[in-house]
Amino acid sequence: TGGHPENAAASGTRPEGRPSKVSIVGAGAVGATTAYAMLMRGAARNVALLDINKAKVDAEVLDLQHGIQFMPQANVEGSDDVAVCAGSDVVVVTAGAKQKPGQTRMDLAGDTITLMKRILPGLLEVAPNAIYLMVTNPVDVVTYAALRFSGLPANQLFGSGTVLDSSRLRFLVAERAGVAVQNVHAYIAGEHGDSEIPLWSSATIGGIPLRDWPGVGGLSPLTDQDLERMHHEVVHSAYEIIAGKGATNYAIALAATRIVEAILDDQHTVLPVSSLLEDYDGISDVCLSVPSVVDRTGVRETIPTPMSDEERAGLRASADALRAAAQQFGV
Ligand code: 2OP
Repeated sequence: TGGHPENAAASGTRPEGRPSKVSIVGAGAVGATTAYAMLMRGAARNVALLDINKAKVDAEVLDLQHGIQFMPQANVEGSDDVAVCAGSDVVVVTAGAKQKPGQTRMDLAGDTITLMKRILPGLLEVAPNAIYLMVTNPVDVVTYAALRFSGLPANQLFGSGTVLDSSRLRFLVAERAGVAVQNVHAYIAGEHGDSEIPLWSSATIGGIPLRDWPGVGGLSPLTDQDLERMHHEVVHSAYEIIAGKGATNYAIALAATRIVEAILDDQHTVLPVSSLLEDYDGISDVCLSVPSVVDRTGVRETIPTPMSDEERAGLRASADALRAAAQQFGV
């Protein structure tokens, strides 16, 4: 097929030449903003929105269609009928209960697991070969439950995980170091939620291990207190945003779009997505995020990332918390 991956991204055309189709389930703040982000970036040629609220989905689709003149070439459709998702290459699931101020992501587990059980069969019928990207919270438990309900192989269904949290972390590190965010490589692993952990020992700034960063532009090297503060801020940022505006939408939409691009363009991008682990450093039978290679097959493989003893213990604790949560909700 030749062609540079960026050209494929710009035209929204899959390598085989058939225009790509992405369906987004849920036309709430996250779903509608994900549609907007994907259209703006030209990530997919065809975008379908599905929501049980017909008035809401129709309105979101109209509003998006009225902007098509100003976007890369695209079609947008929407419905309350799952048939609108037929033939999707990727299905992004954002539907679910909204996290209220004071609630944790885990507080939504019961309701969203029930919802997945209800909506997945219809989706699988019309889009059996799609890659399924779960975004609904608590995303790790939802992904684990959805794998069980769907019977899909683990590469084909996974969660957005800590791609967003890692982006939050990189933003904070970049700000503190006074360099561009693209020059920071650092991952948050584990639960997308309270037990997540930063993998500081493999983090780099401009190719230099983060702990050896000398400091530039009159800024000092990063201290242990800096790292603790950044970890704390990443864990608490969603609470802060929800307290202020009732939902988070822009950054998660961009994170989901980035994952979709890695899939559709077969990019082999390293992203910390949430997938079913099988003896990852001894961790099994749980969905959580570790640096992974994402391509047209979905999660191609997880990367055995070197970790400090503290990080390994943190990842284990996060896995235990997630397994306990899944058990509590009967999955
Ligand atoms: C976020 O981290 C609430 O999970 C959502 O923005």
